[in-house]
Amino acid sequence: MSRSFSTTMKHFKSVKIKSSKGSSSHQWLTRQSSDPYVEKAKLMNYRCRSAFKLLEIDDRFQILRPGQTVIDCGASPGSWTQVAVTRVNADASNSQSPQGKVISIDKQHIYPINGATILGNMDFTEPQSQTKIIEYLDGRKADVVISDMAPSATGVRDLDNDNIIHLCYVALRFAVQISETGASFVVKLWQCGQTKQLETDISRFYGNVKPVKPNSSRSDSAEIFLLGRSFKGLK
Ligand SMILES: C[S@@+](CC[C@H](N)C(=O)[O-])C[C@H]1O[C@@H](n2cnc3c(N)ncnc32)[C@H](O)[C@@H]1O
Repeated sequence: MSRSFSTTMKHFKSVKIKSSKGSSSHQWLTRQSSDPYVEKAKLMNYRCRSAFKLLEIDDRFQILRPGQTVIDCGASPGSWTQVAVTRVNADASNSQSPQGKVISIDKQHIYPINGATILGNMDFTEPQSQTKIIEYLDGRKADVVISDMAPSATGVRDLDNDNIIHLCYVALRFAVQISETGASFVVKLWQCGQTKQLETDISRFYGNVKPVKPNSSRSDSAEIFLLGRSFKGLK
């Protein structure tokens, strides 16, 4: 018994722990711990730093107003939903303002958020998921459709770009079907050869389209957002 113990200890001593410096998880941890938005998100009770991207877009362009109906696509863990709920007063926390509605969907689980209708574990690209959203709209039209959807990265840049562009078009097609005239649309993508075409296609339906890169979007990331305003309506 004691022999096997000492053998084990010898073995432990000879094991060298490899440094994880330079590994992607090490870089991620270093970046997270030095990122002011991560700290700010914790202090302000947002589920993740992404909240600041929507806050910045809304502070600049005023797309969210009390009483509006918002669809949040790719909502997990939920920070955009938290922002939308407050800005459209979906939780009725301001009794002086009209109450809005927020419907949030994600492939992954979303923990409940007071004031939001949560559709977790649902793939937005599936027709039955979109039918569910329409049921929850209960005859209303959307004033704002926001999509922060991102596919799981494969590491093959062209394929990742194709996958996110596909999600953008699914969101656009849906937004066009269910939006009120004058509505807004925000969609996240990674800047690529298809950005211009997507912008052109959004402008077929929205009077004003512009690319936006919030300060809280990491400068070393290809992430940008396209913002469409003044939905022209379907004739
Ligand atoms: C960057 S995260 C969204 C973060 C979120 N906006 C927030 O502030 O908490 C991207 C999300 O898109 C979701 N997603 C990707 N493809 C999807 C799909 N087909 N249907 C629904 N959600 C999808 C992922 O599951 C992931 O949670």
